[in-house]
Amino acid sequence: MSVSVESATQLADRIIALEESSTLAMTKKARELAAQGHKVISLSVGEPDFKTPKHICEAAKQAIDEGYHGYSPVAGYADLRKAIADKFKRENNIDWKPENIVVSTGAKHSLANVIQVLVNPGDEVIILAPYWVSYSEMVKLAEGKSVILNGAFENDFKVTAEQLEEAITDRTKIVMYASPNNPTGSVYSEEELRAIGEVVAKHENVFVLADEIYEHINFTNKGHFSIGSIPEIKDRVITVNGVAKGFAMTGWRIGYIGAAKWIADGVEKLQGQVTSGTNSISQRATVAALNGPMEPTREMSKAYERRRDLVVKLLKEIPGFKVNVPEGAFYAFPDISYYYGKSDGTTTINDSDDFAAWLLNTAHVATVAGSGFGAPYGLRISTAASDEALAEAVQRIKDAVATLK
Ligand SMILES: Cc1ncc(COP(=O)(O)O)c(C=O)c1O
Repeated sequence: MSVSVESATQLADRIIALEESSTLAMTKKARELAAQGHKVISLSVGEPDFKTPKHICEAAKQAIDEGYHGYSPVAGYADLRKAIADKFKRENNIDWKPENIVVSTGAKHSLANVIQVLVNPGDEVIILAPYWVSYSEMVKLAEGKSVILNGAFENDFKVTAEQLEEAITDRTKIVMYASPNNPTGSVYSEEELRAIGEVVAKHENVFVLADEIYEHINFTNKGHFSIGSIPEIKDRVITVNGVAKGFAMTGWRIGYIGAAKWIADGVEKLQGQVTSGTNSISQRATVAALNGPMEPTREMSKAYERRRDLVVKLLKEIPGFKVNVPEGAFYAFPDISYYYGKSDGTTTINDSDDFAAWLLNTAHVATVAGSGFGAPYGLRISTAASDEALAEAVQRIKDAVATLK
């Protein structure tokens, strides 16, 4: 049933003010074109193209057979919270007890919970950009004010500690970022995060929301560093993670936080009134994921790295594209602004939204415009697809832009 204009205006102001997710909107358009019979290559979703490893699926089947059918504790099963606390210690050098952990319905839910729990109307949230599309909308829902800080292309899209220092005000409540990053694939190094940590340490009312959902898809030889492991600011860092990306479990919807107990308690209180404990079977599967072998995760990461190499090499051959080398996650984020103002004789490309829509309509390649990520010069290309699909997609992009004058 379609919603009439009259009924839509009766939506609450907070929902009217909310932007639709640009990644989901692009995926929807691509599906429509495919349904019309076009051979669409979809590089718009942020989703592994692998299946969940078998031992994790087996644990879920076993959970059903063993009768995990009822409500779970709001913050998650005790042994799952213990497995997460052990993971934080083992992989991130962060010492949290199970009482510091809250399990939620995906990292997205964890992030939204933390923002609801910490942000008062008018509080500023500094978002290191380019950033994942939902951050600014989550802040808006909490009536906070997003302050977008842009990382320069020359600095691999990363914001410096000096930039952060300048942006902090008396109203700053949270600094949030993702590393490895969506959409750029950039990875903040230990040195960069320690410098950021020093700035945060000086401002005792400022919290850090560290989104580490791509932790296991990291191609640097130095590996992942968690800002939450810095003792001076540990109690003011909320580390968010989940199993969606590293274990190919997007549909299972499990995310979690590690945070000071009063923050974890606040999230549990909110969750207790809004969603309750998350899916019982998925929680059992996540125990198996976190306590089980990491080989499948490493294999997937290797495949993403190979595809990163392929896509970067091919994108660099496209005249006018400026291409960084992503060090993690599964995205490439070329600067395509050279083509703004150019036309194929029918359509003029003025910005990244025009470019992505034009590319989908003419070359049938679905990508996502940089505008939604706070980076209007860019185009996000997911590399979570087969080598053949990626090679053909980039060739189509190359042929399409050759028609722009
Ligand atoms: C940076 C970032 N954070 C969080 C999420 C959400 O993860 P989940 O599927 O666990 O909700 C995504 C998903 O695309 C993401 O890209």
